[in-house]
Amino acid sequence: MKTQLRTGIIGVGAVVREIYQYLYFRSHYSDLLDIRAVADPNAEYRNWFCDLAGIPPERRFADYREMLQQVELDAVQVNTPDHLHCAPTVAALQAGLDVIVPKPTAATIQDTHAMIAAARQSGRFLGIDFHKREDPRLKEAEARYQNGRYGTLQTAVFYMIDKLLVADPNHSPRFFASADFAEKNTPISFLTVHMADALMKVVNLIPVRVRATGYAQKLPSLQPIAVRGYDTVDTEVVFQNGATAHIITGWAVPNSAHATTVQSGRLLCTDGVIDLGLDQPGLREIHRDGIFEVNPLFRNFEKDNTVTGYGISSPGRLYQQALALRNGRLPEAQKAAAFTPMALGFYTTAVLEAAESSLAEGEKTASGVTFGRTVDLPKLVSDRLGAAAARDYGY
Ligand SMILES: NC(=O)c1ccc[n+]([C@@H]2O[C@H](COP(=O)([O-])OP(=O)(O)OC[C@H]3O[C@@H](n4cnc5c(N)ncnc54)[C@H](O)[C@@H]3O)[C@@H](O)[C@H]2O)c1
Repeated sequence: MKTQLRTGIIGVGAVVREIYQYLYFRSHYSDLLDIRAVADPNAEYRNWFCDLAGIPPERRFADYREMLQQVELDAVQVNTPDHLHCAPTVAALQAGLDVIVPKPTAATIQDTHAMIAAARQSGRFLGIDFHKREDPRLKEAEARYQNGRYGTLQTAVFYMIDKLLVADPNHSPRFFASADFAEKNTPISFLTVHMADALMKVVNLIPVRVRATGYAQKLPSLQPIAVRGYDTVDTEVVFQNGATAHIITGWAVPNSAHATTVQSGRLLCTDGVIDLGLDQPGLREIHRDGIFEVNPLFRNFEKDNTVTGYGISSPGRLYQQALALRNGRLPEAQKAAAFTPMALGFYTTAVLEAAESSLAEGEKTASGVTFGRTVDLPKLVSDRLGAAAARDYGY
């Protein structure tokens, strides 16, 4: 029986610096992982990570395909930008490896479908790290909602809004290295996917219609570097049972906010309400720099040097499942649950692609507001994948 997964890391940028380095080397899951090799075309990032991990020069690669050919591995983690998740994931699954990917599964419905199909064909494990799924408050909400305590969802509002400094290239030091971060990423791809996924995990409903409204008023006014991007996006999602949700995300809250991310959610159902206080995790700090809500639930640097929290346990549990599958010890029910389109993030990507095309084809006003058009998801999925595949996804 295997006790460790020989793992290759494809892409070692910001998410590895912020989260995964702690999973790999300072967590309760680190013993499961033998980090053997790295592939990243960026030599600076590659060498930073390989020096940290003690990986010798012959197992440092610019091209992931060479890594897959030359190093014996059990698993890879694909930490490339969203639009580059698909090719390395499919190649690794076809080579018989298990694959872990940070959210979202991919940028498009077609890429996500290709990844899901490759996982099913290969029988290997594919796990998507949507870390909110391991937030104990959302897990409790999911269990309570799904045992019928609140009846049926009618409407929900979720929001997730970052401080302006996250998107502002004029802020020093820059939150993300590149000046064009907020032009290349939308609040939809970066934030809406978290909340759409969290909501759908709680209520297990399939989305059928999406319309987004985008506000570009603050970012274009920044000085001296203006940003051509959205401050705030309200994505309205309609589900198969007629329930609606507004998922409001952005990155233009004043930097004086009590947390880097101001976030929460409410679900109104036929027989009750769920009220989440996601940015009030229970540790309020009054400090000479201000008043802050500290979130040890997400990432907690403990006194003994270990790092805990759902940011770590979410991918950690995916690796546990991959190892159990490899050892033939993943219970059938868990395997089936891990391979559903909901678990593999299909509907979250569908909302992402639909919301972005809603805005791209929307009506732009002189005041910086874009009124997106309504996107019909059964039609969009069918256009992208064909009618038979769309039916398999419940459309
Ligand atoms: N930054 C975060 O806090 C965060 C949080 C959760 C999830 N994510 C997700 O993690 C993924 C990576 O985001 P990031 O913020 O680390 O981006 P990033 O741009 O900082 O890093 C991406 C890395 O991938 C490398 N790369 C690009 N093409 C590659 C290829 N073909 N093969 C190997 N490496 C390649 C780049 O050189 C870079 O080092 C994205 O899917 C993102 O949505 C990011």
